[in-house]
Amino acid sequence: MSLEKILSKYPQKKEYLIEILLDVDEDKKNHFISEEEVTTIAKHLKIKESHVCSVLSFYTLLSSRERGEYIIQVCKDVPCYLNDNFNVVETISKHLGIEMNDTTDDRMFSLEFTACIGCCENAPAMRINNEIFVSLTKDKVIKIIDSKKGGNS
Ligand code: FES
Repeated sequence: MSLEKILSKYPQKKEYLIEILLDVDEDKKNHFISEEEVTTIAKHLKIKESHVCSVLSFYTLLSSRERGEYIIQVCKDVPCYLNDNFNVVETISKHLGIEMNDTTDDRMFSLEFTACIGCCENAPAMRINNEIFVSLTKDKVIKIIDSKKGGNS
């Protein structure tokens, strides 16, 4: 969907900035908002580009740099940290051969941290795009990632 099409879905009001940014991000395989898009969105909503950039950098769901098709976000807040008895990040890192904030060479996966995703009672938790996974174990993490590799999203 083009940016113009996305913008036409929403009233021209700044209250819709986050929805617009999420739509643009989700619409692209590489999940990011370009500088040109920031400019167009700011003009459309009659707000400053710096405001768009500050929202973009505040939300971990959004990014201004190109990412993979699947964005794996591991919760780094205390309940998840305390319940992470096998090291979620290390497991993913080793399995995919990437470090934190990296993207695999085939542009399939990016690995990031996120703040609490609201599933603390079932920690540790992670999110892949819009899907949340809880009560993670080493085997479960690897299975989830492999299912995405096979296109079983
Ligand atoms: S602390 Fe990880 S989901 Fe809340």
